[in-house]
Amino acid sequence: MVHPDNRFVAESTLTRQELRTPILRRSFRKPYPAAVRGEGVYVWDADGKRYLDFSGSAVVNFIGHGVREIAEAMFEQARQLEFVHTSQFTTPIAEAFAAELLDFGGEHFRDGAVFFTCGGSESIDTALKLARQYQVEIGQSRRYQVLSRNQSYHGSTLGALAVSGNRKRREIYLPMVREFAHIGMPYCYRCDFDCSDGCRNCGQQYAAELERAIEETRGEAAAFVFEPMSGATLGAVTPPPGYLQAIADICRRHGVLLIADEVMTGMGRTGRNFSVEHWQVVPDILVTAKGLSSGYAPLGAVIASKKVVDAIAGGSGAILHGFTYNAHPVSVAAGRAVLQRIQSQNLVQAADSDAAGTVGSALKTALDSLSDLEAVGDVRGLGLLWAVEFVRDKKTKQPFLPEKNFAGQIGQACVRRGLLVYPMQGCADGNSGDHVLIAPPAVITSEQIGWAVEQLRAAIKESA
Ligand SMILES: Cc1ncc(COP(=O)(O)O)c(C=O)c1O
Repeated sequence: MVHPDNRFVAESTLTRQELRTPILRRSFRKPYPAAVRGEGVYVWDADGKRYLDFSGSAVVNFIGHGVREIAEAMFEQARQLEFVHTSQFTTPIAEAFAAELLDFGGEHFRDGAVFFTCGGSESIDTALKLARQYQVEIGQSRRYQVLSRNQSYHGSTLGALAVSGNRKRREIYLPMVREFAHIGMPYCYRCDFDCSDGCRNCGQQYAAELERAIEETRGEAAAFVFEPMSGATLGAVTPPPGYLQAIADICRRHGVLLIADEVMTGMGRTGRNFSVEHWQVVPDILVTAKGLSSGYAPLGAVIASKKVVDAIAGGSGAILHGFTYNAHPVSVAAGRAVLQRIQSQNLVQAADSDAAGTVGSALKTALDSLSDLEAVGDVRGLGLLWAVEFVRDKKTKQPFLPEKNFAGQIGQACVRRGLLVYPMQGCADGNSGDHVLIAPPAVITSEQIGWAVEQLRAAIKESA
């Protein structure tokens, strides 16, 4: 038995198969093929092996790989002007893209403003600070706490990690982060409440937790941050009816800003421009990344509503925050070209799983067909963001032992078959529970979906 404090040292002396290269890779145990080319839904490695990207890498690619016009837009921007610092200049491209993004965000973001970053975690940290500054600007300087949910993921910087609930990704850093209250997250497959009424009651119970948590801060709550649809941690879990509306209402009544983390679910991924539209919820701040540039450049965005922007513009008049590379012209050029592509190819509509004849609905039907497998406990999702959860016992929903790393095994079996999925562990209780995320680019065809689901079925059978 290894003492918990010595776990990392002990494991590395036990397992001496380190795969070392000049890159500090995510794992020293796992071999990584070298990727050299991408086109459409495919990626090729240096040995010429082809992979169907059934997870958009990590729910990043939405428009397909290797789209020439994105590379050209980036090249053109780099040729004209590669970089200026946002303390000295703005750029026409950033101004134009911000206006287009506000438009894409809908009526609620009219006269708001966008802060561009290099990705999701930076955007979350920006949103947390923006919420705090908003409260200070309106004379509510006692408000600084940001409430969030268990089993959520908002990023890997210490600020984003503080509001995340993904146990595995947080555990060793907890002494370094400033924590506020985390409330429960509805997860109807493994719900704490009686869901026999179609989950109406459980949604209200979970929302009531937020109200209690806000009251317990005694006037110090600044914001609540949430993923409208759980991303990696629980795997494509949609909220029960009425839940998000109740959350939004509670925040409004208590003067707490509502921050929607749409890093994974934004930019069309769920068949709407932003997933909050499914539940008619309007956040004060909306955070997005991943699909925003579809991976062509590091890019994230914090979209602030007029209320938030007005408070700062008419108050101190300056944002107390910034990164050297925020609104980087080449990244912004990539994002702008990606949005044009999303719109010209009608990719948001293609992703809509509730509309007949779309690839979104084809994916839903194909993945549902896996439910007959003994190891498949649940298939859930929306648009082009789905999860397949695996169980050891279908009746009791008992998960596999975490040491078995069932999701990881399936991921590897898929890779051997030339298929990329996104395996995760911990959905059941933070430690056990296995699922794979499925989130292909919206240019996937029904035939490619059929092939990919066949491979996934074979990989599950092989691993069970
Ligand atoms: C919902 C959500 N928020 C934030 C992040 C962090 O984004 P990034 O990895 O770009 O920093 C992620 C990444 O997976 C995410 O899924």
